[in-house]
Amino acid sequence: MSIDRRLRQVRETRDRLLREGPAWTRGPDRDFEIVTLPARDCDLLRDLLIAEQAETVVEIGLAYGSSALAIAEALLTTDPRQPRLLAVDPFQQQAFNDVGWDLLRSAGADSITSLLRVPSSVALPQLLSEDVLADAAFIDGSHRFHEVFLDLYFLRKLVRPGGLIVLDDDWTPSVRAAVRYYERNLGWTAIQDAFHQGSQQRINNEPAAELVPRCRAVRLPDPSFEPPFDNFQPF
Ligand SMILES: C[S@@+](CC[C@H](N)C(=O)[O-])C[C@H]1O[C@@H](n2cnc3c(N)ncnc32)[C@H](O)[C@@H]1O
Repeated sequence: MSIDRRLRQVRETRDRLLREGPAWTRGPDRDFEIVTLPARDCDLLRDLLIAEQAETVVEIGLAYGSSALAIAEALLTTDPRQPRLLAVDPFQQQAFNDVGWDLLRSAGADSITSLLRVPSSVALPQLLSEDVLADAAFIDGSHRFHEVFLDLYFLRKLVRPGGLIVLDDDWTPSVRAAVRYYERNLGWTAIQDAFHQGSQQRINNEPAAELVPRCRAVRLPDPSFEPPFDNFQPF
């Protein structure tokens, strides 16, 4: 299938998902709207990856497939030599009935996607042992501090120096704390205006708390470096 046709199919699938919702949802009311990455944040993620000319992207957390389709749209738009989306989700079948994977397949994006059906703590070291070098990553997995911290630990080695990492739900204290360790200690820099046009949410959903962009984009330093252990900056 030509690249133009695949790109058209991915865009049509994204439009249909937005208009009609997925073919299947989990039990809780409005689960799709609550769980999936909102369309405008998907568009901003896509545009960032296009600007990055990303060829290999790691995604943690496929669920309903909105963010994966946006990543696929970016990869097919820039049309690099070997576009690759490495998606990680241990619960895609058991919790999501493969709805995200089926959407990627119906969009023809499965030809550029590998789905690793294991936790990110297993998948990322595996990718590292296979010498994968990614240009960018999107994290929207368990949201537990220790798992996000570990995702960032491995992505620091998997994403090339100077590459990009985007995190969903930077309004949650667990995600905020994890990424700030890397910003304070390892020279990662936030791309401040990347998601200012996107969804906003109050920190920890507390009514009096600061309203912040839902997603956070950070750039890895180039070259990468190891800080002295006795220069630890609390975060
Ligand atoms: C908020 S949803 C992701 C939403 C998705 N990006 C979208 O746009 O529809 C979180 C996803 O992370 C997955 N997940 C949970 N724990 C995980 C882990 N340890 N490693 C990778 N993925 C995990 C869940 O199965 C779920 O699909």
